[in-house]
Amino acid sequence: MMNDKSANDERLTADTQLVRDYLATVPRQTSLDADQRDELRNKIKDLLTAKRAVLVAHYYTDPEIQALAEETGGIVADSLEMARFGRDCEAELLIVAGVRFMGETASILSPDKKVLMPTLEATCSLDIACPIDTFAPFCDQHSDRTVVVYANTSAAVKARADWVVTSSIALDVIEHLKAKGEKILWAPDRHLGRYIEEKTGADMLLWDAACIVHEEFKAKGLFDMKALYPDAKILAHPESPSSVLSMADVVGSTSQLIKAACDLPDQTFIVATDQGIFYKMQQLAPEKKFIIAPTAGNDATCRSCASCPWMGMNSLEAMYDTLLNERNEVHVNEELAEQAMKPLRRMLDFSEPVSYTHLRAHETEADL
Ligand code: 13P
Ligand code: SF4
Repeated sequence: MMNDKSANDERLTADTQLVRDYLATVPRQTSLDADQRDELRNKIKDLLTAKRAVLVAHYYTDPEIQALAEETGGIVADSLEMARFGRDCEAELLIVAGVRFMGETASILSPDKKVLMPTLEATCSLDIACPIDTFAPFCDQHSDRTVVVYANTSAAVKARADWVVTSSIALDVIEHLKAKGEKILWAPDRHLGRYIEEKTGADMLLWDAACIVHEEFKAKGLFDMKALYPDAKILAHPESPSSVLSMADVVGSTSQLIKAACDLPDQTFIVATDQGIFYKMQQLAPEKKFIIAPTAGNDATCRSCASCPWMGMNSLEAMYDTLLNERNEVHVNEELAEQAMKPLRRMLDFSEPVSYTHLRAHETEADL
């Protein structure tokens, strides 16, 4: 009879393979075969070179897009480092593969650069759920509070804020403001807000919105999965519900989760964030096993639906068309951009750039 450990190992191998197989066959809205995709990738590379353009991609985009960014001298990063890289790189043309707030941030921080996106339709549930017409009066009603907004917001909401933060620095910024005796108005993600409130003890008034992707992670399913893989460490993005975060060994932004996956000595990780992150995790730690956290309980036909529909709109075809025709330029109202620049600068000035986002396979920070 098989003992528990080897049964678990077998299950683990099967699950890891499941993730790899899934990523390899993830349905793309395309009619192109492999050769045509290769050809398209090469055309995009040529256009990037000819136009001296740089591709700035988020960890949640299709692995094919992430690989293109890396191969062409662009960057794959979290939302904070995308913003910094876009601002600091020499290119005059930026192609931002992510969601709209990332394109808007790049445009605000780099007024002299042309910023294009494969699609301008790619938004974010947090941005949608925090419209400026209701957010501004809410701020006015609580004018004694410092307004801190997550980067996943519109330019208008950023323009109304004192601070913009990403999940990489949110905790540290709130600690800093709390130490100065400030009371906080936080928007829009309630899970991240509650997590920071609990960690820091700061006085925080929370807007009530959530990420439709992370909201789906289920504590019960995670509990069952952890029982199957008792040696696995749980990595969770702080947009996940508190019941999930309370089970996590590491809570952090996308880049912090990738760093944890590389730095921790453990071999197996259950990951509660968008599955696009597996590309970078497996590239940097090919010997480790990554399992996607469950979103739908044991009986569901899909193991996990952890895939942002808006990030998924960044296809190769859309990228080629955008580059060729210089379509989908991001425009931000000048007055709003000027106002939003202030809290965005604070965000970048508060944090040091991180080098590990540029790591290639088999490198570690010590190699740099
Ligand atoms: P990061 O800032 O961690 O990259 O997160 C952005 C995001 O949209 C998470 O859902
Ligand atoms: Fe927005 Fe969630 Fe998509 Fe991130 S994963 S861009 S928070 S909807």
